[in-house]
Amino acid sequence: MWQLPKVERPVTLTVFGATGDLFARKIVPALYLLFRERKLPAEFSVIGFGRRPLDDISFREQALAHLQKASPAVTAPEAASFLSLFSYRRGEFSDPAAFVALGKTLAERDRALGIETLKSFYLAVPPEMVPMLAPRIAEAAPSHRLADGSTLAWGLLIEKPFGTDETSARALSAALHEYFDENELFRIDHYLAKPALDALLHARTTHPRYDALLAREKIRGITITLFETLGVESRGAFYDSVGALRDVGQNHLLEMLALAIMPIPNMDAAHVCGAREAFMQALPQLSPTHIAANTIRAQHEGYCVIAGVGSESQTETYFRLAFSLTQTPYTGVPVVLQAGKRMSAMQKDIVIAFDCDHTDTLHIELEPVPCIYTKKDGVLTMISEFTDPEPSIQYANEYASLFAYAWRGDHTFFPAEKEVEYQWRFVDPIIALWQEGMPPMRTYIPNTMLPWKK
Ligand code: BG6
Repeated sequence: MWQLPKVERPVTLTVFGATGDLFARKIVPALYLLFRERKLPAEFSVIGFGRRPLDDISFREQALAHLQKASPAVTAPEAASFLSLFSYRRGEFSDPAAFVALGKTLAERDRALGIETLKSFYLAVPPEMVPMLAPRIAEAAPSHRLADGSTLAWGLLIEKPFGTDETSARALSAALHEYFDENELFRIDHYLAKPALDALLHARTTHPRYDALLAREKIRGITITLFETLGVESRGAFYDSVGALRDVGQNHLLEMLALAIMPIPNMDAAHVCGAREAFMQALPQLSPTHIAANTIRAQHEGYCVIAGVGSESQTETYFRLAFSLTQTPYTGVPVVLQAGKRMSAMQKDIVIAFDCDHTDTLHIELEPVPCIYTKKDGVLTMISEFTDPEPSIQYANEYASLFAYAWRGDHTFFPAEKEVEYQWRFVDPIIALWQEGMPPMRTYIPNTMLPWKK
């Protein structure tokens, strides 16, 4: 079951883009959760790196504001002790001297501690900046293997989207591999670290009923849904360049599908990652005719007036995609993937329907109450139900877990190079046809149920 592992190794985390929105919404709450749960190593510090003219004190004041927003009940002594871990280095990403100075800071800290800390770098920056930052980071903290060669000396945490299609994802991995080994790269898909999906993996390996159902019974269909009531909020410009399918389909929804049905012999990282990659590789290649007839893309009314969105934007805020699996033992099983912003109600779940005497459906609900249950004639049987450790703060559980796993060198929650390429390979033909205007874009009224306005 989901639990935060303790990180024993000393870590220095450098956050690029530390004055931005990701730092406020994801990093501070997640680090605080690790701090509060006593999962951080004894020697731990955070260096914020950014362009703004801040010093340690003003950076801590900003971090305090983020912390108080996320955790209003935090006490003053607790906040002070947490924030004492934070410091700030000012620098332009294009300025080599700023990275030399950062390198000195990292080395000085190690010297003062008399140990070599794991250098972890989190890139809270627009995706196009990643290839530019990689060589600079490599100059600032030249990697050196520890004596036995097995322990991670440094690692890069990279936000999604990883590329915009298969070709760009491959090029990005190649650019990063010039400086970093694959095991030093941690591509983020926070859904993999969701407590409910972790519980699902555990249920699959420990609960005989779950996999017995998948193995024995005929699956009638699988529906995966990620409906949000919120819209694109302040991310208009970014969202308009990606759209719903690239934002959550290529990654979160495909991972949910894989975790629900891929064969998993056991829970170690190598098996879980290998099974996900094999699953993505075996996704079908959809033809233009299939895509035209079996996908829906739609945009909610009012989207084009959101700040940062093009006035004639053809970006979808909703999609529905139907296809059949072609891989054994699921050949022919119909799948629906659907996601949308400004839906009438929040729904994030996986539902598997069976042709079977004793079970109609299996449900894996991610939110609001994470749980796994079966249904027969409306009667519900719980398989797994649990309390979300930090339900009120979006991303806190997931990012705390992602940090802890990355710092332990564990890739269970991180998609690998090929896995991401195969996801794009599946999605690319759909986006290509949509860009040609097929099928036509539909419109819906925000926060009402479909059907379509047009
Ligand atoms: C992110 C997307 O990856 O996932 C967002 O960029 C989306 O647009 C979010 O809102 C959903 O995550 P969660 O954890 O709130 O379901």
